[in-house]
Amino acid sequence: MNPLTSVKGAIVTGVILALLIIVGIAEMGSAGLHFNEPSLARWIHILSGIMWIGLLYYFNVVQVPGLAAAAADKGGPGGAGVTKYIAPRALLWFRWGAVATWFTGFWYLAYGHQFMNALTLGGGGHDRYGLIIGLGMWLGTIMLFNVWVLIWPNQKKILGLVAATDEEKAKARKVASLASRTNFALSIPLILCMGSATHGLPF
Ligand code: HEM
Repeated sequence: MNPLTSVKGAIVTGVILALLIIVGIAEMGSAGLHFNEPSLARWIHILSGIMWIGLLYYFNVVQVPGLAAAAADKGGPGGAGVTKYIAPRALLWFRWGAVATWFTGFWYLAYGHQFMNALTLGGGGHDRYGLIIGLGMWLGTIMLFNVWVLIWPNQKKILGLVAATDEEKAKARKVASLASRTNFALSIPLILCMGSATHGLPF
């Protein structure tokens, strides 16, 4: 049976390929296999970060403008199919991707005893690594708050997953879209901080 005919099958295939690469490279060296916990945390962190940010960019540059065009296209097919079948699925992977990204980032910091250093922004800027990864962590924490406190509860009203009057839906649209746009903007300096903590800032 072709495992690539299902999402689960594709994920399992990807993990097996990754494990083959790990074993293959270990076989080439003399060190053999040994568990590298921070590397595992970083790998899962980057995977879940791509899921979260990938869907955030999908919402901001594809779904929202697309639904606006569908609404403006009088006599057109409308956006009901997107709001009923696509948006709830995207929001599921989006909100849990956000949780997985935050906790794997925390896992990486805690393993290296760097969480307090990041939380305090490098002890008030004294430690450059703590300052940069700390800025990234705080941006990611604000974004996680926006997802679970502003975006998801309001999206449930907009999509009719919970009861809401037309007035409540109109207010929910404003709050959810502003919170999503904010996260879109914050993701850019966040990724700068994530990549620059150990590799240095571009300027
Ligand atoms: C939208 C959210 C986030 C995304 C997309 C993201 C993405 C990334 C990426 C791509 C890296 C690898 C950078 C590199 O190796 O050059 C990274 C590293 C890291 N991230 Fe995040 N991250 C996010 C949020 C967070 C949060 C909330 C935390 C903390 C709780 C965090 C902690 C870390 C740490 C500690 C590293 C390793 C830095 C290092 O020592 O090289 N990240 N992140």
